[in-house]
Amino acid sequence: VTYQVAGPVAGPIVGMVGGGQLARMTAPAAVPLGIRFRVLAEAPDSSAAQVAAEVEVGDHRDPEAVARFAKGCDVVTFDHEHVPTELLHRLEDAGVAVRPGPAALVHAQDKRVMRERLTAAGLPCPRWRPVGSVADVVAFAGEVGWPVVLKSTRGGYDGKGVWTVGEERAVERVLGAAGGGLLVEERVEFTRELAVLVARSPCGQAAVYPVVETVQVDGICREVVAPAPGIAEDHALAAQQAALRVAGELGVTGVMAVEMFDTADGVLVNELAMRPHNSGHWTIDGAVTSQFEQHLRAVVDLPLGATTPHAPYAVMVNVLGGDYPDLYPAFRHCMARDPGLRIHVYGKQVRRGRKVGHVTVLGGDLDRLRERARHAAGYLRGEVTE
Ligand SMILES: Nc1ncnc2c1ncn2[C@@H]1O[C@H](COP(=O)(O)OP(=O)(O)OP(=O)(O)O)[C@@H](O)[C@H]1O
Ligand SMILES: [Mg+2]
Repeated sequence: VTYQVAGPVAGPIVGMVGGGQLARMTAPAAVPLGIRFRVLAEAPDSSAAQVAAEVEVGDHRDPEAVARFAKGCDVVTFDHEHVPTELLHRLEDAGVAVRPGPAALVHAQDKRVMRERLTAAGLPCPRWRPVGSVADVVAFAGEVGWPVVLKSTRGGYDGKGVWTVGEERAVERVLGAAGGGLLVEERVEFTRELAVLVARSPCGQAAVYPVVETVQVDGICREVVAPAPGIAEDHALAAQQAALRVAGELGVTGVMAVEMFDTADGVLVNELAMRPHNSGHWTIDGAVTSQFEQHLRAVVDLPLGATTPHAPYAVMVNVLGGDYPDLYPAFRHCMARDPGLRIHVYGKQVRRGRKVGHVTVLGGDLDRLRERARHAAGYLRGEVTE
């Protein structure tokens, strides 16, 4: 990219729309590279606004606020997928480097667009169909069997906008309550959930991280193990190849996570996230290049970094809001018990079930790593008391 400011280290200015924990964790990754990092935050006290040197406060749905923010940046990228696609098309038409661009990003915003495109490209997906009525869903369930999974095409996150339904009356309830477009999928009998993180730059270079296992509880990611323990080599390779193909097909720039289901017959694509992702938090402590640095490198079109892990296993456990309004008092005990523990907190108001931080441990003994990471996450939220 061309950049605006010359200095002892004249680097580009990357602007991230959204001030959540992903922007917060991108800020320190910009520092060693001398990349100036700016954030368009929803509020002055949002997670990233607390740590980024250059913060603007504004609404990501407001075309003027986003355009004004973009004027001060060489590249615009995202902490979330909620900026309206149309707004981004207009920015791009006005000459702003939007990465990922709206033509790619829409596949992470709209599950129907994503399913259509991946199906057309021959990528393995669950059987699915767009639906508009109870009868559509019942007909689909007649073909694939109950239960089925209903999904809002837009706006879902952390399992909001996803409903498993076992009979017609449950379908009626969901259709009555959910606004907007819906699709239905077969309920996949997966053995586990996987995610593959890739990065792709405008020049077309791509890099892929090891396949990880993700554990979801009530639709929220709880735990990530890298690499996915005991994964068959052909499944891992197929998963990585599928993710690289998606990145190339869609012309993604930046980091993308492809969420997948592992099944007896191979891997199926669940959904896409075009930004750093919870399944890649382990890379901060556990890989040569963190996903946040990789995202920065990709959006400014620098060569990508090595994705090599530092240890045989990394285990990351999310800290969900629990009993303690303040996480800090628990640090002393966790740190004293486990000097190898890596703690990351997001500066967010603690609310029950909300992602407020994560912990990572690295090593070779997977059972022991799980015990250490779960203990720390449990202690931080007040679930474990010794
Ligand atoms: N077709 C399916 N079959 C079985 N389980 C499913 C299916 N689709 C979704 N799920 C379950 O629901 C979870 C959430 O679904 P999905 O990832 O599509 O929704 P989301 O709310 O957009 O997620 P995210 O929080 O990752 O943005 C999945 O991680 C998986 O556990
Ligand atoms: Mg998901």
